[in-house]
Amino acid sequence: MKTIGVLTSGGDAPGMNAAIRSVVRTSIYQNARIFGIKQGYNGLINGEIEEMNLSSVADIIHRGGTMLRSARSDEFTTKAGFNKALNVVRVFGIEGLIILGGDGTFRGAKKLHDAGIPTICIPCTIDNDMGYTDYTIGFFTAVETVVDAISKIRDTSTSHGRANIIEVMGRECGDIALYSGLAGGAESIIVPEVEFDIDEVCRKIIHGRNRGKLHHIIVLAEGIGNAYEVGREIEEKTGAETKVTILGHIQRGGTPTAYDRIIASKMGNKAVELLLAGESGKALGIKCNQLISMDIDEALNVKKEFDKGMYDIGRILSI
Ligand code: F6P
Repeated sequence: MKTIGVLTSGGDAPGMNAAIRSVVRTSIYQNARIFGIKQGYNGLINGEIEEMNLSSVADIIHRGGTMLRSARSDEFTTKAGFNKALNVVRVFGIEGLIILGGDGTFRGAKKLHDAGIPTICIPCTIDNDMGYTDYTIGFFTAVETVVDAISKIRDTSTSHGRANIIEVMGRECGDIALYSGLAGGAESIIVPEVEFDIDEVCRKIIHGRNRGKLHHIIVLAEGIGNAYEVGREIEEKTGAETKVTILGHIQRGGTPTAYDRIIASKMGNKAVELLLAGESGKALGIKCNQLISMDIDEALNVKKEFDKGMYDIGRILSI
């Protein structure tokens, strides 16, 4: 294989740039040509493709976002769109693709693999919602962002003696809430994976208040539902003024943590090696600190396990 394409698709994740850099530089080191495809699968359909060189990826390892830009492509899911993409791959002489994103992106990559285009996937999403890998690129950066926000909100929470709900991203996965809640010393962590009892949250607020506690931080995963409704109920049941902060897309940006950059660099390198070795239809991941690769199909079918042990520690430490 002499010509590789790389694209980023779906929600962006800090560390994507570090992975792109690794893919580009490893390809060039291995004497392969490397093409950057813009805006995910849309760029593959529209031929928004440029050859990259060593300098194309200079000064990006520390930057959030994705220099290739990203998109969620509806057109790629149609037969016509998919066929256009296949045609563009042939026109540009691309012999293999490295595709960065989350589960929706992986499903697209699997279709390309099934159509005979060698494809390797790298897991990038802040949600950490892919069961086959311990961590996805971008997750720890998002957790750092949330922990920083918790510390800041805690200051004002204490000054005013309030309860503060911090809603975090993650879709149906509670990992961002769980990890940031534990690291941020939250009094309550509310996640979709564990049935939540509003009365327990309220009891904690009242007990805390009775022993002189001035703040109460509740980290709530977006998959739970409406944070404002939860806030209103808490206020009614405890009398504690309750403010809601929805952190939103701030969690998707920012300079990637060292860990995200390291796994991104390793996976980018490995993805090129696998393609050059004739592999296809593989998803890279991290298990017990080791780089792994698995069939995309199999990876997509591994159920995400919630770390109940960690959740219980959070509960114990916030009594
Ligand atoms: O999948 C990443 C994610 O940030 C989710 O946590 C969130 O629900 C969603 O994407 C937001 O999507 P968008 O960027 O399209 O608003």
